[in-house]
Amino acid sequence: MTVERANNRPAGPAAVPAAATGAASARTSTAAALEKKIDNRTARVGVIGLGYVGLPLAMEFAKAGFSVTGIDIEPTKVFRLNSGESYVQDVPEHLLRDWLSAGKFRATTDFSAIADLDTINIAVPTPLRKTKDPDMSYIVSACQETAKYLGPGKLVILESTTYPGTTNELVLPMLEASGWKVGEDFFLCFSPERVDPGNAQYQTANIPKVVGGITPACTKLGARFYAQALDTVVPVSSTSVAEMVKLLENTFRMINIGLVNEMALMCDRMGINVWEVIDAAATKPFGFMPFYPGPGLGGHCIPIDPFYLSWKTKQAGIEARFIELAGYINGQMPHFVVDKIQNALNDHSKPLKGSHVHILGAAYKSNIDDVRESPALDIILLLERRGCRVTYSDPFVPVLLLDGRKLTAQDPAAMAAKADCVVVVTDHSGFDYAAIVDCARLIVDTRNALKKFPSPKIVRL
Ligand SMILES: NC(=O)c1ccc[n+]([C@@H]2O[C@H](COP(=O)([O-])OP(=O)(O)OC[C@H]3O[C@@H](n4cnc5c(N)ncnc54)[C@H](O)[C@@H]3O)[C@@H](O)[C@H]2O)c1
Repeated sequence: MTVERANNRPAGPAAVPAAATGAASARTSTAAALEKKIDNRTARVGVIGLGYVGLPLAMEFAKAGFSVTGIDIEPTKVFRLNSGESYVQDVPEHLLRDWLSAGKFRATTDFSAIADLDTINIAVPTPLRKTKDPDMSYIVSACQETAKYLGPGKLVILESTTYPGTTNELVLPMLEASGWKVGEDFFLCFSPERVDPGNAQYQTANIPKVVGGITPACTKLGARFYAQALDTVVPVSSTSVAEMVKLLENTFRMINIGLVNEMALMCDRMGINVWEVIDAAATKPFGFMPFYPGPGLGGHCIPIDPFYLSWKTKQAGIEARFIELAGYINGQMPHFVVDKIQNALNDHSKPLKGSHVHILGAAYKSNIDDVRESPALDIILLLERRGCRVTYSDPFVPVLLLDGRKLTAQDPAAMAAKADCVVVVTDHSGFDYAAIVDCARLIVDTRNALKKFPSPKIVRL
């Protein structure tokens, strides 16, 4: 069942169910009052965590007419936003400035703002610890602050990707410790964020939003809230289902990338062009979906989220074997790429040690500026460890912080002409590939970015 966007619906009084007496009546009126504020867009919206997920979400609710307060622990981010400077590629500065000057958005580091808010979306990081265990400290800290200022008639929605059970087992007890009761005084949901930074076709507003609440009243309010600003809302029966939806989506992607990376390793050994195989297989009109190999997984989601699931399932006595295996294969890809570079150089009678390798693309995927978990970082470090001099180009990443050092992006064509080997790690569309192929001596292409160039100096993954 989906709920369609309510944007064009005239704001008006919400239907208030005929309530019985006493406690039941108070419960109904708390939910009904919040529902009314949501429907007529007078609800004061809060977003905790103003990053790749939280900031675009805050902008959508400002656009829908709500007054939005963004809360972040980073004073510089808050200062930049209040000065009209967007640091998130998908949030254009002119929109941010429009909402600031219309009084529809403001940012703060002061959590006491929560006291005046009606809805609170939490979009803080969920990284892994070195041991690959979930790091819940950001969620815990954001929920502690929320609990301090919790009161009747508030809707709290966790959006950070996390293991199934988090909202019910971790967040709910923290919030109820304040003395307020879920489903009666306050309302709690989980709604996974599916944003795909850099995707021009699908952005926060037109990506269907799954939401599950602790109680049916929570789900109803959560769905109603999102329907004011987003095109399609998909209510589900519980917070655990909503949490698991996100992990299924990202695990599906991680495992299919692992499978196709293993295919690439097999094809390499057998002298078969894996890219041609995939393109031909993709002509099948049913039962096949193409995934593409590459230098390794990157970003804040696909390499990390499935390990939240495997950590949780271990407690239930189930080993998540597909996840472990795909994680292993994907983790081998940067090593495979470095071996490929070494072999390509050796074929040109050059040792890897002492060679100059130029990396094209430091971001983890094309046309974005995010370097979190990017395989380019691993490849640079592995090459340096083997005695190479490494430079890089990336129009989205002018400076790269690596191992406490600051690397500066170089001009791609100028470096391609100087380097012993150029490696396409991220296929940004802005690179002038024709010029690079023209002046480079040797190119290792991990993305099939140069498929239109039939040159003997190109070695493909
Ligand atoms: N980036 C994506 O493409 C993407 C997509 C889907 C889901 N997610 C998930 O969404 C969540 C947020 O990811 P992101 O990419 O927006 O992260 P981010 O690092 O870009 O943003 C998180 C923000 O939260 C702030 N923060 C940290 N602790 C805080 C606290 N206690 N209180 C207030 N603010 C705090 C940080 O300063 C930062 O600005 C993660 O769980 C992530 O897995 C991310």
